[in-house]
Amino acid sequence: MPPRRRLNTFDAFTKTVEDARVRTTSGGVVTIVATVVIVLLIVSEWSDYRRIVNRPELIVDKTRGERMNINLNITFPEIPCEILTLDVMDVSGEQQTEITHGIIKTRLNDDGSVISTELLALHSSGDNAHHLDESYCGPCYGAVPKEEEGKRCCNTCDDVRNAYQEVGWAFGDGHGVEQCERENYPEKIKEMAHEGCNIAGTLSVNKVVGNFHFAPGKSYSSPNMHLHDLNIYETSAVRHTFTHNIHHLSFGPHHHTVRNPLDRTVKKTDERHFNYMYFIKVVSTRFERIGAAPLETNQYSVTSHERAIRGGRDDDHPNTMHARGGIPGVFFSYDISPMKVINREERSKSFGSFLIGVCAVVGGVLAVASVIDRGVWEADKALSRKKAV
Ligand SMILES: *[C@@H]1O[C@H](CO)[C@@H](O)[C@H](O)[C@H]1NC(C)=O
Repeated sequence: MPPRRRLNTFDAFTKTVEDARVRTTSGGVVTIVATVVIVLLIVSEWSDYRRIVNRPELIVDKTRGERMNINLNITFPEIPCEILTLDVMDVSGEQQTEITHGIIKTRLNDDGSVISTELLALHSSGDNAHHLDESYCGPCYGAVPKEEEGKRCCNTCDDVRNAYQEVGWAFGDGHGVEQCERENYPEKIKEMAHEGCNIAGTLSVNKVVGNFHFAPGKSYSSPNMHLHDLNIYETSAVRHTFTHNIHHLSFGPHHHTVRNPLDRTVKKTDERHFNYMYFIKVVSTRFERIGAAPLETNQYSVTSHERAIRGGRDDDHPNTMHARGGIPGVFFSYDISPMKVINREERSKSFGSFLIGVCAVVGGVLAVASVIDRGVWEADKALSRKKAV
């Protein structure tokens, strides 16, 4: 046998001779229908192959020593920027008091319109002292630690304020302090009493348990306590409160699928001594997209608590920054979850399984069609035989 003939013996698809075949109308219809069905099924198979699915996965977060950005934008309509401080602290002992980096404070009128925008550094102390005699050495009103007595000068209102802060005394609005009256500090404070404040920007913190809070007055940290100078806040003729509007609070870069539960939160109070707490659980999340760099960000869940606190300064220590029963303010405590979510985008099918699907569609539909065609043909034959009889 010649080689070609030998190969022929392997042919599983034996063909009948053309003459023995019959073409029928019903067969044509079945073929057209089958073709349409095949095309439709292949299209659906194709769209199934192109479909992108999200496969979330939970792993233990093993990254260490990272930093995290906190993006915030909060408005306090009833407390002026001048007496609002933002402090950040965490369990590692890192404290950022009276943040000045990356945060913008905007002074607002009582109707919410913008007065001015400033980086959080409030006092340009350098300017205030330049007109003074070089030998001038202002008194610090006794707010000097023992070892520095007689050596330290307080030339500006700010110097006095800082000196008071260092020893932990309440400062107030500067009445009776020569440096402050020269700078019209008491009047400035009074003028600002009706203002509100917007604080917006980004804080960079260690990715460990911590908190940041908005509280009135300068803060003062002794080894085991964190205190605020509540003097102006409490004695002001205009009532200040911690009514606030959280426009935005997020941890890490923006991703369109992340919903921040605190965005557009509005809390109102009429009480001066009111304390808001938000307890936040931060969950690290990575988004892996097809054809894009992965994005590391965070989601969070939050529970909150608010309460009125017993007001009034501690009568036993009228000069300290102490407030009984807690400090009025807005506190955010955040905790880092040990689990990390990975949101991976994937094609729902590989190209191989797409091809397999196509073959199954073609083969399956043709098989079914030939059965139907056969059935119609046999029925037709039987019918015409009956007629003939
Ligand atoms: C803070 O949010 C307010 C209200 O949505 C918006 O008008 C303002 O531009 C935001 N500020 C910043 C710095 O993004």
